[in-house]
Amino acid sequence: MNKNLIPIGFALASLFTGCAMGRAENVATLKEAFSKDFPIGVAVNQRQFMGEDTNGVALITAQFNSLAPENVLKWEAVHPRRGTNGYNFAPGDAYVAFGEKNKMLIVGHTLAWHSQTPRWVFQDDNGRALSGTNAADRELLLARLHEHIQTVVGRYKGRIQIWDVVNEALNDSSNINDTNMLRQSSPWVRILGVEFIVKAFEWAHEADPKAILRYNDYSVENEPKRKRLIALIKMLQAKNVPVMVIGSQTHANLSWPSAELEDAALTDIAKLGLPIHITELDVNGAQGGQRNQSADVAQNSQAAGGKLAESADEKLSKQYASLFAAFHKHRSEIKLVTFWGVTDADSWRRNGKPLLFDGNWQPKPAFSAVIEQAK
Ligand code: G3I
Repeated sequence: MNKNLIPIGFALASLFTGCAMGRAENVATLKEAFSKDFPIGVAVNQRQFMGEDTNGVALITAQFNSLAPENVLKWEAVHPRRGTNGYNFAPGDAYVAFGEKNKMLIVGHTLAWHSQTPRWVFQDDNGRALSGTNAADRELLLARLHEHIQTVVGRYKGRIQIWDVVNEALNDSSNINDTNMLRQSSPWVRILGVEFIVKAFEWAHEADPKAILRYNDYSVENEPKRKRLIALIKMLQAKNVPVMVIGSQTHANLSWPSAELEDAALTDIAKLGLPIHITELDVNGAQGGQRNQSADVAQNSQAAGGKLAESADEKLSKQYASLFAAFHKHRSEIKLVTFWGVTDADSWRRNGKPLLFDGNWQPKPAFSAVIEQAK
């Protein structure tokens, strides 16, 4: 039967009942197929965790056993205004309640990032940009970071099990001779240097000593960025900073990373001695994304542009199979694999149809290709 044509009700029912869809007979859900290896997570949006997208909710609860909040716990969403009254916890509270109701492993995303952070965070009360050469400015920014982390992590203490503490702080350059370890355009880096990373982890640990704390970044498969990642983590480990997991986002395209590159990157990163989480998995099928290996939000219109690449559906299945073969091989180091969205229609790269379920909540051929890797 062509699964793209079966009615939604039937498709969802078959996902619940375990109707065989691949070589792994009797196993038809992602979370069951990989239950011996790692939990399978998914990033959810507000319509999903508020229960409005009922088909989405059915897929989430049938297929996944971990959740990440796509946007609602980012600084601009949870703490849009300055001061202790500047928080907006309602969406984050609903997200956590949804995860608890469905007994899922709950991720928090993200505490310190250069993007989706309000401008006031990096300004004084008169709107003047804070400067890294001014000790009082540095103190002010550190105090804000401390208060933010204490409040947000503290609110969900014992309920959010894993936090992306620092996101995308590494220099994005593909030039291996570029010696800057950190992203120079980030206001965190410009004002505080590596200190914001050290403090963010220490304060997150202080706020919830049991939470698992991640450093999360993209394109760490590529050698220049991977070298910087390894240098950063070694430096943090030497200072006893409580970084506990490496988050590799894995925003892939149809041919990158290759099977060899993914395997080599995981082998290399695992040498740090920390568990690895695949945190934001998707495979961009748009023509514009086939040369672009960056998940930088600023480059997204380019990466999601153009029509779908030729034979995109077939290549998508092959790429997902190749990635999951690597994840399965490295299952003793990989402790979580999370998809960045439920269906193609929800994705930040929806033009590139990058996920396992189409806009009608139907499993695509790539779904079976993934299940088959759980041998
Ligand atoms: O909330 C506003 C809404 O009020 C407005 O009507 C609408 C109109 O455009 O925009 C809404 O904000 C959007 C927001 O998502 C919530 O939907 C922003 O424009 C849009 O830029 C934002 O995109 C998110 C992106 O991060 C921003 O940085 C994507 O959904 C989200 O998937 C993406 O996720 C990031 C990870 O956090 C970190 N790694 C890379 C990954 C992809 O960029």
